[in-house]
Amino acid sequence: MENSKNMKALVLSGGKGTRLRPLTYTGAKQLVPIANRPILSYVFDNIAKVGIKEVGVIISPETGAEVKETIGDGSKWGISIEYILQSEPKGLAHAVLIAQDFLGDDPFVMYLGDNLIGCGIEKFVDTFHTTKADAVILLKPVDNPQAFGVAQADSTGKIICLEEKPREPKSNLALVGVYIFSNEIHKSIARIKPSPRGELEITDAIQNLITVGKPVHSHVLDTWWLDTGKKDDLLAANTVVLDEWFKRNIAGSVDSASQITGRVTVEAGAVVRNSTLRGPIVIGSGSIVEDSFIGPFTSIGSDTKITKSIIEHCVILNGAEISHIDRLEDSLIGRKAKVNKCHHKHEALRLMIGDDSVVEV
Ligand code: TTP
Repeated sequence: MENSKNMKALVLSGGKGTRLRPLTYTGAKQLVPIANRPILSYVFDNIAKVGIKEVGVIISPETGAEVKETIGDGSKWGISIEYILQSEPKGLAHAVLIAQDFLGDDPFVMYLGDNLIGCGIEKFVDTFHTTKADAVILLKPVDNPQAFGVAQADSTGKIICLEEKPREPKSNLALVGVYIFSNEIHKSIARIKPSPRGELEITDAIQNLITVGKPVHSHVLDTWWLDTGKKDDLLAANTVVLDEWFKRNIAGSVDSASQITGRVTVEAGAVVRNSTLRGPIVIGSGSIVEDSFIGPFTSIGSDTKITKSIIEHCVILNGAEISHIDRLEDSLIGRKAKVNKCHHKHEALRLMIGDDSVVEV
């Protein structure tokens, strides 16, 4: 797209990931799979679709190696990736500060690596060009604006003011984690101080642009937006992605005793025996599903083993094993976790649960 000539992207994939513990004790939250693809893959899909070629990716010392290994050099998307190490998560504007050498004076899309939106960013990029603003922010009406950064806009979409988690919000428009900036943002970041929580806040930097008279515009998202920071958000994201973007594709082996209805993906190398699969669902390569029912909105990763179980509306990560479970719903099961029913006479739960896990019996 001609529009995105000289435009770069900065993807934020550092941070602490506290809200998704225990999954994020052992991995980056931006790599948690939605319908068996890391969240970051959807971010790069959108960036590549608008013709951006140069992408900086902010990584942390804890999860940077895993992000690099999973995403690689960007050639899968026809983009080139430069990884930028942020030694501590000192805020979204701090991430821009340390990326200055990479960004130079070019305009850029800043995209939070754990945000998923239901459409591309073409119209958003158009708004940046047509308004010639120094910042364009993506907004979405929400029911609980108190929990978000909130923007007040005039009838043309020009931003009047921004507030972080206001007690009395002036609008219901929350800031979605995608922004476009001109090089003015660097000057603005140089003018702001860290917030009471010790971070350089991007909302403060954008508010500062407005204060010094620079134009800030907005684009209101007309599809869904999910910040995948928590379990229920992650299950919701999995549900919409399976529902809207998945097709039927049976590449793995399914025996004649099994029944498949709806949009079901069985990846190559997966084996399904004597089971009922009701889509939309995806089953990853190397997984074995036997004598089970897998119901709608379930994503099963690679190399899992599901035996004699009923599962619906779940995300099961790579290497997990589930056996003899009568009904597992609305659940997120981590890598290599095991959920079994014991056949001892003595009725008791026997658990070995990691830190910060949640079990509802
Ligand atoms: P948050 O979700 O606000 O940050 P976090 O990962 O620290 O969250 P939590 O502990 O509450 O789960 O950040 C949004 C995105 O930006 C996320 O992908 C992490 C990334 N990020 C950075 O890369 N550097 C930073 O300094 C911060 C604060 C976030």
